[in-house]
Amino acid sequence: MGRAGESMAYNVQQFFLQKRGVGYVAPILCTMRGLGESDIEQAVVFHKRISDEIGDADFFAEENTIAESIMGEGVVVGVFAEGKLIALRAVSYVKEFVDDAVVDLDLDPGEANHVAVMDFCVTDSSFRGNSIQFFTYLFTESQMYPNRYHLHTTVSPKNIFSLTNVLKCGFSAIKFKQKYGGHHRFVLYKNLRKPGAVKTRGHKEILLRNYDYHPKVFADGFVGYKIKHKSNGMAMLYGKPLEEVPSKV
Ligand SMILES: CC(C)(COP(=O)(O)OP(=O)(O)OC[C@H]1O[C@@H](n2cnc3c(N)ncnc32)[C@H](O)[C@@H]1OP(=O)(O)O)[C@@H](O)C(=O)NCCC(=O)NCCS
Repeated sequence: MGRAGESMAYNVQQFFLQKRGVGYVAPILCTMRGLGESDIEQAVVFHKRISDEIGDADFFAEENTIAESIMGEGVVVGVFAEGKLIALRAVSYVKEFVDDAVVDLDLDPGEANHVAVMDFCVTDSSFRGNSIQFFTYLFTESQMYPNRYHLHTTVSPKNIFSLTNVLKCGFSAIKFKQKYGGHHRFVLYKNLRKPGAVKTRGHKEILLRNYDYHPKVFADGFVGYKIKHKSNGMAMLYGKPLEEVPSKV
C-alpha cells in the first residue's frame, strides 16, 4: 500500500454541506481528500482546537498519531471549507495502538498487520449535523480494505453522538472496560471480512449510565448494535450475534 498522501491524492470529492453560522445557515462548498505531509501541522492544530474545546479526557482522548498516520502508518482524511479544515478523521496502524487493539479484540497476534484503529473523528461545531463522521468513515473503509479488516475503536459511554455514529458505521460493541487511566469505554469491532449480523428480536435495552450492567450483558454473549433515546435516558440495544445473515426476510 502506498503512502497515505500519495495513494489518495487524486481521490478528491466536492460537495456542499450546511454550515450553521451565528444567526444563519448556508450551504458551503467543501472538499474531501486524503492528507499528505504538508497538511500535518494544520491537522494537529485543528485536532488540538477541538479537544481543547471539549476539555474532558473522560469524553475524548487528546492523544493521537496524526503525523505517523499521514506518513504511511494509517489513513487521514480531511474536509476543507472556506480555505480551512472543518473535519478530520484518522485511522492508525501504529504498533502501540494495534497491540492494544489485538488484546481488546482477543485476536491472534499474527493478525496484527490486518488491524486498523479508528483513532478519532472531529468536526468543527458549525458543520455538525452533516453526518461527517459517517461518510468520512466510508471513505477510509475503502482505503483500508482488503488489507486491514479487523477494525477497532473505543468510545466513552458519555459520547452519545459518537456512539450512535460508530454503530451506524456497522461496528458492534463487544466489551465495556476502563481504559487510558480509568476512563470507561465501550470497545467496538467491525470485521470487514466477516461482517457480523445481530439478532434484533428479543433484544435487551440497557441504559448507558448503568456501568455495572454492561459487562454482565457482554458476558451473556450479547453485542451492542444501536443507541436508543428512551424517556429515562439513552440506552444501548443488545442482541445475540448470528453466525450467518438470514437469507429470508
Ligand atoms: C462526534 C462528531 C464527530 C459527530 O459529528 P457529525 O458527524 O458532523 O455529526 P452528526 O451529523 O452525526 O450529528 C447529528 C446530530 O447531532 C448533533 N450533534 C453532533 N455532535 C454534537 C455535539 N458534539 N454536541 C451537540 N450536538 C451535536 C448535530 O448537530 C446533529 O443534530 P441535527 O440532527 O439536529 O442536525 C462531532 O460531534 C465531534 O467532532 N465531536 C467532538 C469530538 C468527538 O467526540 N469525536 C468522536 C470520538 S473520536
